[in-house]
Amino acid sequence: MEKKNLDWSNLGFGYHPTEYRYVANWKDGAWSEGELTTDATVTMTECAGVLQYSQSCFEGLKAYTTEKGQIVVFRPDLNASRMADSCRRLEMPVYPEDKFVEAVKAVVRANAAYVPPYGSGATLYLRPFMFGSGPVIGVSPAPEYQFRIFATPVGPYFKGGAKPLTIRVSDFDRAAPNGTGHIKAGLNYAMSLHAIVDAHNQGFNENMYLDPKTRTKVEETGGANFLFVTKDGKVVTPKSPSILPSITRRSLMVVAKEYLGLEVEEREVYFDEVKDFAECGLCGTAAVISPVGKIVDHGKEICFPSGMDEMGPVTKKLYDALTGIQMGRIEAPEGWIQVIE
Ligand code: PLP
Ligand code: COI
Repeated sequence: MEKKNLDWSNLGFGYHPTEYRYVANWKDGAWSEGELTTDATVTMTECAGVLQYSQSCFEGLKAYTTEKGQIVVFRPDLNASRMADSCRRLEMPVYPEDKFVEAVKAVVRANAAYVPPYGSGATLYLRPFMFGSGPVIGVSPAPEYQFRIFATPVGPYFKGGAKPLTIRVSDFDRAAPNGTGHIKAGLNYAMSLHAIVDAHNQGFNENMYLDPKTRTKVEETGGANFLFVTKDGKVVTPKSPSILPSITRRSLMVVAKEYLGLEVEEREVYFDEVKDFAECGLCGTAAVISPVGKIVDHGKEICFPSGMDEMGPVTKKLYDALTGIQMGRIEAPEGWIQVIE
């Protein structure tokens, strides 16, 4: 299979349509036989549930070319089960988890020419998503749904790659107590658009959201969970019912403990203690681990000892171990890597 002639090493995190995507439709209580298609467009009624009441959810995962030249995907079963949770919370039909994984694999296989080569720094990002496609005018779940997966080759989420980020504490909330912060609903991201545009306009890379009820605890950013490292080398990540259960973060906690022998803690993290941490990073499929050098809280700066030039040493070890597992340089825990071809 011949690879497409793309400038792999200079890709940003953008939409670059590939040849095939997967589509299945839900109607009268059942899913259609899903299929690959080359049609990247969606046509639907003006009264579709997604257009009127934002009934949609999505996932994000990546395919990698390993050191040995195989194409693999990372823990797609966890995306399948998180999407099922999102669907249940949004009164959408669940796409069967085993079919979800098969569909991911079919899309990667069909677009193998777009999976960036090993060592290029790029990956193939997969975007499974579902939306209410049938008409609703009273506030209720849509009568019909579409599930799709497309693929797009991507580079780093944050411009500048591994350069430490500057983020600010946001006055906007991302999720409500007992709301939808723990699922991957499109509406969570619509909510965050004003906050992110405002952050960018003020020169910040991202927002740190605090818990909406007390505004004393660290939650997450618009598209990634937090990891902190204490001065004595412990890895700490916030625990909250309103943050997205990041697959990257859950994997990193295993890597920290089992591969690097570090102590790990998932617990409430008060904003007041952030100034005492040695390192801070954002973790997610798109973000991988992006180091944070500075957090600004209404003019007051917290500067991590790891500085603004490079990743902190523990963050770097975590990054190397995780990407080593994803790219086949380090043996993965059982079931984390699924080989496509
Ligand atoms: N938090 C939010 C709000 C996200 O959008 C994402 C991205 O998926 C994450 C965290 C990271 O999750 P994951 O590691 O599963 O990609
Ligand atoms: C991902 O990391 O896959 C996400 O969905 C985050 C998104 C903000 C790009």
